Amino acid sequence: MTTIQAATYPIHFEGKAYSELSKLITNNNYSSLFVLVDDNTIEYCYPRFIQLLETDKKIEIIQIASGEIHKNLDTCEGVWNVMTELGADRKSLMITLGGGVITDLGGFVASTFKRGIDFVNIPTTLLSMVDASVGGKTGVDLGVLKNQIGVFANPELIVLDPEYLHTVTPREIRSGSAEIIKYGMTHDIRLFNEIKDNPNVNIIDLIHRSIEIKNEVVLEDPKEQGVRKVLNWGHTMGHAVESYFLESEHKEALTHGEAIAIGMICEAYISQKELGFSEEKLADIKKSLQQIFGIAPIIKSDYDAILEYLIHDKKNVGGNINFVLLKEYEDFKLNCTTTQEIIIESLDYYTS
Ligand code: GLY
Repeated sequence: MTTIQAATYPIHFEGKAYSELSKLITNNNYSSLFVLVDDNTIEYCYPRFIQLLETDKKIEIIQIASGEIHKNLDTCEGVWNVMTELGADRKSLMITLGGGVITDLGGFVASTFKRGIDFVNIPTTLLSMVDASVGGKTGVDLGVLKNQIGVFANPELIVLDPEYLHTVTPREIRSGSAEIIKYGMTHDIRLFNEIKDNPNVNIIDLIHRSIEIKNEVVLEDPKEQGVRKVLNWGHTMGHAVESYFLESEHKEALTHGEAIAIGMICEAYISQKELGFSEEKLADIKKSLQQIFGIAPIIKSDYDAILEYLIHDKKNVGGNINFVLLKEYEDFKLNCTTTQEIIIESLDYYTS
């Protein structure tokens, strides 16, 4: 797979990625390497990584507990302390090896340590390969509020090695595929069609195109002043449902992708009402996404709480809930609003 050039860094694929990383380390003469892992990636991904990396530099492993619940400033403080104890300096390199929590948190830790040291992302889940590790967003959660603290900071390089996908569960792969479907609906419908028409599609083949799309969007609008908001398609409703399921005592947490799939169905409904998106395509989205991701148990008594989360969405401006909507596949409109009635109808539509 060919290298994708982002604004200031390359995204290298497969074997070449490791030789480029080794070259980067030699050329920059880093003083030491810090590899950030979690309980899973230390066991399942680190052995492959260390076998393929060629360097004589000192390597320190920093391990944090896995899971979104640990994506916070306490964990950052722990990592900063360990780096300090181990003598990290401004010429140290941080290598993040993991899913979105590791790449987001590790990028943030690196870009704030001693006012910023270099970092490299090695995403190991589908979600972090096609979304989190690309585009320069780093950060952590503040309580239940996702990604409230962070900075835009670019890695020196991304190592994209699909072999790591063999270390994650089918449910996690499905979760990442929701982001691929998202790129399909907004930029290249082939991606959605390939997943829905062929349950055995090789997801690896769709990763490169997904990253190309994300990279094009981010190159045009790195700080989300305009067109980058399109990456939030399905995410306004999706995040609200995801947060609600996470917080509710009576619900089992959804994966990010499962929540975004619900978001895309609801927002396709809102698109139909507000922008005349095709009814036939709306019905196809609902049928296909519910087939892939299942139907989450949302009932009427959940609606008020979901609306509360929508009202507090960090993407809102001036008190309005902000949506990306579709006029057509590959034809979107940013900064849309709608009525509370239509939002409720969209949840009814999802559950009907
Ligand atoms: N995950 C959306 C973005 O990177 O902008």
